[in-house]
Amino acid sequence: QRVGIVFGGKSAEHEVSLQSAKNVVDAIDKEKYDVTLIGIDKQGNWHVNDVNNYLENEDDPANIRLHHSDEAVALVPGREEGQVLQVSKSEALEQLDVVFPILHGTLGEDGSIQGMLRIANLPYVGPDILGSAVCMDKDVAKRLLREGGLEVAKSLTLRKQHREDVTFNKAARTLGTPFFIKPASQGSSVGVSKVKTEEEFEKALSEAFLYDKKVLIEENVDGRELECAILGNEQPKASQIGEIIPAGDFYSYESKYIDESGAGLQLPAQLTDNEKERIRTAAVRAFEILECEGMARVDFFLTEEGKLVINEINTIPGFTKISMYPKLWDISGIPYPKLIDELLQLGIQ
Ligand code: DAL
Ligand code: MG
Repeated sequence: QRVGIVFGGKSAEHEVSLQSAKNVVDAIDKEKYDVTLIGIDKQGNWHVNDVNNYLENEDDPANIRLHHSDEAVALVPGREEGQVLQVSKSEALEQLDVVFPILHGTLGEDGSIQGMLRIANLPYVGPDILGSAVCMDKDVAKRLLREGGLEVAKSLTLRKQHREDVTFNKAARTLGTPFFIKPASQGSSVGVSKVKTEEEFEKALSEAFLYDKKVLIEENVDGRELECAILGNEQPKASQIGEIIPAGDFYSYESKYIDESGAGLQLPAQLTDNEKERIRTAAVRAFEILECEGMARVDFFLTEEGKLVINEINTIPGFTKISMYPKLWDISGIPYPKLIDELLQLGIQ
């Protein structure tokens, strides 16, 4: 079967996507699947590469290179000319049986590419348009989870045009200090700050508004950071549970991807059977409430008092070397190549 791996993209998580794509491409069974690499550069131009070309350049530290290839074909040369439709007509896409979008964040994880692939009549891995869109917006996702009876952190939603409506004192009164400020639609903790003072508050808001016109001001939940992976369509199954041991102030972008000694992972997390059961059940519930299919990683906090709070759901979770999703399946009995195979087959279904 012919698989298209789409990676890169215009989002702030471009580099994370390259790391994820590299691992997926390495793990995919190339005897079984004929792989086409489709890279989107930071300007949004599309490039098609043969996987053999990538394999020959495997030692290159730039991983999968978008810019090197003379043979690169630009499928969308320019937006002005309205060539988005050209993608659906392009030969490279038409020949594929399934697409694996490994794009984190906006224009990839948020339903955009899912909509484009749907129009192009191409099956793909991961949640559909609605699930993707809903999970990308933390404000909307939290409202649905709350309505579904699941616990989420208390927060205020602030739109750019109403920025003056929430002062530091109001946020501190409602949520206590410290609290977090985060763009509503971002991943990998990009634009997220922990705030203790009025000064930090203004700076954090400006930073978050760089990435989104809507931000969340969220209470700090003191608890263990636990993650559970979900795989499946109508009968989603939950993996074992992993724990993040953050080294810095919180599990930031730096501690995830830059600082090698940034954060530790405990796999599986030390939990009682009862706690594991609660987490797995809540993870599957969240997956269903938010209209997910295929895959997702559900992130939790478990407080000392035993309160289980959902932090967020990632519909295209990281596949980097520090990422939990593939590690959790590995310890749950599904090694990397088999996981990719299952995901592709779930996408084709
Ligand atoms: N957004 C990153 C890739 C993650 O959730 O793993
Ligand atoms: Mg995320």
